[in-house]
Amino acid sequence: MDLGLTGRVVIVTGGASNLGRAITLGFAAEGARVVIADVDDAQSKKVAGEAPSGTIVARHTDVTDWESVKSTVEFVKSSMGAVDVLVNCAGWTIDRLFLEKPRDEWEREIAIDMWGFINCTRAVLDVMVERRYGRIVSIGSDAGRMGEWREAVYSGTKAGVIAMSKAIAREVGKYGITLNVVCPGLTPGKPETSGRESVWSGDQAANFTGEVLEKAAKAYPLRRVGTPEDVVPAVLLLASDRASYITGQTLSVSGGYTMI
Ligand SMILES: NC(=O)c1ccc[n+]([C@@H]2O[C@H](COP(=O)([O-])OP(=O)(O)OC[C@H]3O[C@@H](n4cnc5c(N)ncnc54)[C@H](O)[C@@H]3O)[C@@H](O)[C@H]2O)c1
Repeated sequence: MDLGLTGRVVIVTGGASNLGRAITLGFAAEGARVVIADVDDAQSKKVAGEAPSGTIVARHTDVTDWESVKSTVEFVKSSMGAVDVLVNCAGWTIDRLFLEKPRDEWEREIAIDMWGFINCTRAVLDVMVERRYGRIVSIGSDAGRMGEWREAVYSGTKAGVIAMSKAIAREVGKYGITLNVVCPGLTPGKPETSGRESVWSGDQAANFTGEVLEKAAKAYPLRRVGTPEDVVPAVLLLASDRASYITGQTLSVSGGYTMI
């Protein structure tokens, strides 16, 4: 099936690492023009270098900072003429029992996972409403659907992303704009694709050793944890015109971990 993504202008937040990297490269392979909006400049440039020159542009963006997000959207609009697709992928968490978690970690989760979604979604909507076209695909988490042990506040932020996507989808459907959420399960990164030195690409390394991952796989009906590439097809489909009649939906891509 041709997804018709050739020439589309796509912003992928958190596009420098793991899931975001795979999504960025997935869009590039479909012929889209992709902007990685990430705080990790070195890693963004590395990912941009994995596609033919000019296909992927790295743009320093802090999704928690409204001015930074606005400036990136302005840059994309003025240099590429549009923002057709936004993928809200930047995220952060570290697993700890609610009773043991320090406040600064909650605040970081809320800032990146929830404010990041709000800032980026709000910033692209002006361009999308003006052009009567837009696709916003956000990376949620199964934690946001079921409430995950050791991920209380993170679960709340991802449940927020799901609920806000539905609410905004109701408001902007009349402009031809859709919002949907893709929820991965456990999807560990690899050091060679994350630019970091751990099996998990973020700060989760200590929590996810090989032994823990093997145990975790048993909780998945398909008996393995995810790869970033597992998530890409769902994101591409929801970002395409083939999904023009799908909005406000949440799709788990997690080997059957949740069935809601
Ligand atoms: N990996 C998993 O198991 C898993 C499971 C469910 C959901 N998710 C969600 O998928 C998304 C991607 O996860 P991942 O495993 O690829 O994470 P990751 O840590 O490998 O990558 C996150 C990226 O976001 C960037 N980032 C962090 N803070 C930022 C900020 N303030 N502004 C802009 N960029 C910022 C980082 O530099 C990094 O490139 C997240 O939203 C995460 O919550 C991941």
